[in-house]
Amino acid sequence: MSSVVDLRRDGDVAVITIDHPPVNALSHAVRAGLKDALGRARDDAGASAVVVACAGRTFVAGADIAEFGKPMQPPGLGEIIAVLEDMPKPVVAAIHGTALGGGLELALGCHYRVAAPTARLGLPEIKLGIIPGAGGTQRLPRLIGMDKALPMILSGEPIPAGEAHALGLVDELAGDDLSAAAVAFARRVAPQRPLPRIRDRSDKLAPLRADPAKFDELVAANTRRTRGMHAPAGAVEALRAAFELPIDEGLKREREIFSRLVAGDQSKAQRYIFFAEREAAKVSDIPADTKPREIRKAAVIGAGTMGGGIAMCFANAGIPVTVVEKEDAALARGLDTIRKNYANTVRRGGLTQEEMDKRLALMAPTTDFAKIADADIVIEAVFETMEVKKEVFGLLDSIAKPDAVLATNTSYLDVNVIAQATKRPSSVLGMHFFSPANVMRLLEIVRGQETAPDVLVTAIAVGRRIGKVPVVVGVCHGFVGNRMLRARGIEAERLLLEGALPQDVDGALVEFGLPMGPFAMSDLAGLDVGMRSRRDQGIRAEIADAICDLGRYGQKTGRGYYIYENGSRTPIPDPEVEQIILDASRRLGIQRRSIDKNEILERLIFPMINEGARILEEGIARRPSDIDVIWVYGYGWPVWRGGPMLYADQVGLAYIRDRLAEMAARAKDARLEPAPLLRRLAAEGRGFSSLVADNKALA
Ligand code: 3HC
Repeated sequence: MSSVVDLRRDGDVAVITIDHPPVNALSHAVRAGLKDALGRARDDAGASAVVVACAGRTFVAGADIAEFGKPMQPPGLGEIIAVLEDMPKPVVAAIHGTALGGGLELALGCHYRVAAPTARLGLPEIKLGIIPGAGGTQRLPRLIGMDKALPMILSGEPIPAGEAHALGLVDELAGDDLSAAAVAFARRVAPQRPLPRIRDRSDKLAPLRADPAKFDELVAANTRRTRGMHAPAGAVEALRAAFELPIDEGLKREREIFSRLVAGDQSKAQRYIFFAEREAAKVSDIPADTKPREIRKAAVIGAGTMGGGIAMCFANAGIPVTVVEKEDAALARGLDTIRKNYANTVRRGGLTQEEMDKRLALMAPTTDFAKIADADIVIEAVFETMEVKKEVFGLLDSIAKPDAVLATNTSYLDVNVIAQATKRPSSVLGMHFFSPANVMRLLEIVRGQETAPDVLVTAIAVGRRIGKVPVVVGVCHGFVGNRMLRARGIEAERLLLEGALPQDVDGALVEFGLPMGPFAMSDLAGLDVGMRSRRDQGIRAEIADAICDLGRYGQKTGRGYYIYENGSRTPIPDPEVEQIILDASRRLGIQRRSIDKNEILERLIFPMINEGARILEEGIARRPSDIDVIWVYGYGWPVWRGGPMLYADQVGLAYIRDRLAEMAARAKDARLEPAPLLRRLAAEGRGFSSLVADNKALA
């Protein structure tokens, strides 16, 4: 008997139950147990039908990602699905939770599928840089048609059981008791012959065979955001095989593509980020049994861009949120922006009007600060100066209930100083959202010196509840993301002074895979933000300051490093800016030269890596992979490159050290001197990832 797969009889129905917490991933033990149980159920003359179900919180959530990259131990999933399809009696999958990847493929190998109404079904492999490898690309389009299967496979997004039922992916929606419903269903279909096998279907694909151009149209409509990635093209190739080739050849083609992709650098990077994302929220020095405080109600102070976006996050997750502004006009403006944002989503089909109304109804706008008194968590998102923050926290301290979590959304300021403006610094921490806050998934959780363990754990839990990727970081100016961004920004300005133009610098990063470069990003964020921060610190930036002096604050003024015509977001290079740059070089006596793309990339990325090394040394980030998660989810670093610290390991730390030393000497900038940690690892021939002993993805 297997310890993870159980086989019992419920009358004349054999019930196979997979019990492999936390998510019933198809590890070797599960595959072996499943094959054995299927064999016994097949040979059991008293069983006229079989149910495959799962214990715990979910149906099989996929292959065991940690086993990828290691030698595959038989039986493979494909072999088990072949056994399923050839069973001489009906097999019914009983689906609850999430049937994902190999889990859905397993269910597609069954003759029927019964699902709990709350279940979700999907093929998310694309998010791991691979494609379904056990028949998903061949069976799903045969069952629900290419027009539904292709978007599911290329987006990786699961669909709810109700929709799956309407598409014929699920045969029956269960009531309250999934097991009973699946067994009853199995009993009902037990006499049914021939058994419906998806592999034998061709009706849904026939129209494509007659008109393959339809397929190309579908592909064009679903591959718009796949720049630089290998997996989408692989998925398209496998899906094409589904209607061009007989199923066994199609399965073989799919397997070849899967094997190529799973061995490639992109998938390795994406698997690394999958595990890194989950590690980032774990804090080793906090007792595992620390309970988060219960959050029933939230409040956000400030209804500006950030405050509004944060309030939306809470409302989207069904949490009532009080939105506080000082004056009626600002409050009305903030609410108006929120309404417009939702209305845009409704117009694009991402939300129903009813859901929008429900979310708006969860928001309680007010100018009365006292209304935060019943909030379990308060997030401050007011003007970014210490004086204002202190004043707000003093006020919060006098009104908020004693066990409320008090969070600041500051992006640079010292959370410890802010905490001291209250008499309860242990309740204070940073929750740094990224703009637009309702879209960007990163949440830097800034742990203050006195932040209580349960306050930290509460912030992490709330972060996950509102769909964010929380990463715990320490206090320093700019925390992890913005501090590294600043290192990049300084070098970007130097590149302009030495000979490059904004479009050269931005172009190199876009080609590398980021959605935009530093100058387009500054224009989007507003140049005045950086200017104020520099002014506060007494720093001068020759070109940035000259541009700001002309009132060019970026997209919001239609001009910044680029021109934006008629409210468009497309940056157009501006001769006036070029002149400002040439003048600045002349003023500083710098002889301009041509700078190639490779130099631009190294000079933008290596200083970031260097700052990342310092951040690790200082304990501001606890793992190199935490930094990578921050860059992937907060700054658009391409997930298939895995983040700057993984990239550093791939390039080699010795090379980076030498280049940084040259840059430091040339610019006479001590900040560019290789960080001690970087030097030490390079000398020992190690990478950053060697700092973490137990890294599932890199093992
Ligand atoms: N393999 C190995 N470990 C997995 C896993 C998987 N497929 N899915 C989840 N886990 C682990 C997580 O690492 C985490 O471990 P930890 O507790 O040690 O950090 C634990 O299970 C719980 O996961 P989450 O914290 O993500 O739990 P949630 O409840 O928030 O989410 C989930 C559950 C929706 C199932 C989510 O974990 C998920 O999306 N998992 C990945 C699903 C996936 O990508 N499946 C496809 C795999 S590839 C495949 O099947 C190839 C096939 O075609 C051959």
